[in-house]
Amino acid sequence: MAQLWGGRFTKETDTLVKKFNDSLPFDKRLWREDIEGSIAHAQMLGKQSILTAEEASRIVRGLKEIAEDIEKGNLRFTDEYEDIHSFVEAKLIERIGDDGKRLHTGRSRNDQVALDMRLFVRSACDTVNRELKGLLLTILSIMEQNTETFMPGFTHLQKAQPVTLAHHFGAYFEMFKRDTGRIDDCRKRLNECPLGAGALAGTTYPLDRDYTAQQLGFDRPTANSMDSVSDRDYAAEFLSALSLIQMHLSRLSEEIILWNSNEYRFVEIDDAYSTGSSIMPQKKNPDVAELIRGKTGRVFGDLTSLLTTMKAIPLAYDKDMQEDKEPVFDSFDTVCHCVHLMSGMLSTMTFNRAIMEASARRGFTNATDAADYLVGKGIAFRDAHAIIGRMVLYCIDHGKAIDDLSMDEFHSFSEAFDNDIYDAVSLKTCVDKRLTKGAPGAQAMEEEIRNAKAWLAGRQWR
Ligand code: ARG
Repeated sequence: MAQLWGGRFTKETDTLVKKFNDSLPFDKRLWREDIEGSIAHAQMLGKQSILTAEEASRIVRGLKEIAEDIEKGNLRFTDEYEDIHSFVEAKLIERIGDDGKRLHTGRSRNDQVALDMRLFVRSACDTVNRELKGLLLTILSIMEQNTETFMPGFTHLQKAQPVTLAHHFGAYFEMFKRDTGRIDDCRKRLNECPLGAGALAGTTYPLDRDYTAQQLGFDRPTANSMDSVSDRDYAAEFLSALSLIQMHLSRLSEEIILWNSNEYRFVEIDDAYSTGSSIMPQKKNPDVAELIRGKTGRVFGDLTSLLTTMKAIPLAYDKDMQEDKEPVFDSFDTVCHCVHLMSGMLSTMTFNRAIMEASARRGFTNATDAADYLVGKGIAFRDAHAIIGRMVLYCIDHGKAIDDLSMDEFHSFSEAFDNDIYDAVSLKTCVDKRLTKGAPGAQAMEEEIRNAKAWLAGRQWR
């Protein structure tokens, strides 16, 4: 029997119960964290003379060898073991004999698994932020190349006012930038070490919790031993930060799907990021964007799953909490892949600048500016609004954009129009006049790009 707890039992565990109870099939992923934590624990036991120096160093050596063998693929996870903790301990005892049985002194699997998960989520935070950095760099380069790419800005999915592609992507830059901040916050708050909390009430051994916390790169040990073994807030925070990232990715995916459609044709997704249809030869489908949008469901589901699991668990550790792992692993993998693929899809995508610009012109996104022009000529805004409204109707009937009209046509709506109307309603003028901080105007955009660059360069990436 490969269990750690056979002593008090007279009968074997039912086969189905064993399968139901075991977590090794998924928590084997924590082997690095588990061994790292055990090494720190053994070193601390040696330092505190709870184990002799020789015992501690034999344990540490044994653990390092196990890690090497797993890394090289020489040690396989076989299903007789209950979880990663039992697996590593059993292998240690197999290799170094009775000394191995001393490793678990002053420790419970409850503080052990709490430690493993914190170590995992902490390094997952760093990975997610590195992926976000790649995406932010891609977005920044699109911004830099498209400060003069005019396009319609939309509200209600109706063309509203002209913006630039740089400005549109600037909005996503801000979203993903905030996401890195949320990941930072989560990392900062979780960085306390639960090791030494024991099963729930600490231990009677003179453990040095400050030492293990420091060895493992934590800011401090956790404050309350019951909370230490039953807290999974950090996992929920991580999943919630991931959910927001995924929500942003999904919104961007939706826009790309629209822009890539036959109706918009604002962009063309690269062949490498599209797929075909088995029946319709003409099709080139935006599957990557659709899948990113689709996977948002499972990421939100993972968050809901963990919150629901945790909501009625009495203190301290209960086995329900074993259910924390799969949602965390699943969302972490999913979000990393999605961020990575989004970045690749964006950097290989073609932007059809002429079509975007024509769409902004045909969509009367300069109508507000035409009304403002009349106001500048002394006409009251309400009257100007009505004049331009009639003019837009005329343009729709005649298939024209405002700046296609002849001077005679302009005059048929108001004598106040002059030759300078053409410049006033050009998309470049309309955009450039939008000077307020954060607006798409050239000057404001320059500042936005400068700030984005400085932020990317000045931020600490782990
Ligand atoms: N596999 C368990 C988990 O993931 C480890 C902790 C087991 N603790 C216990 N008291 N049975 O939560």
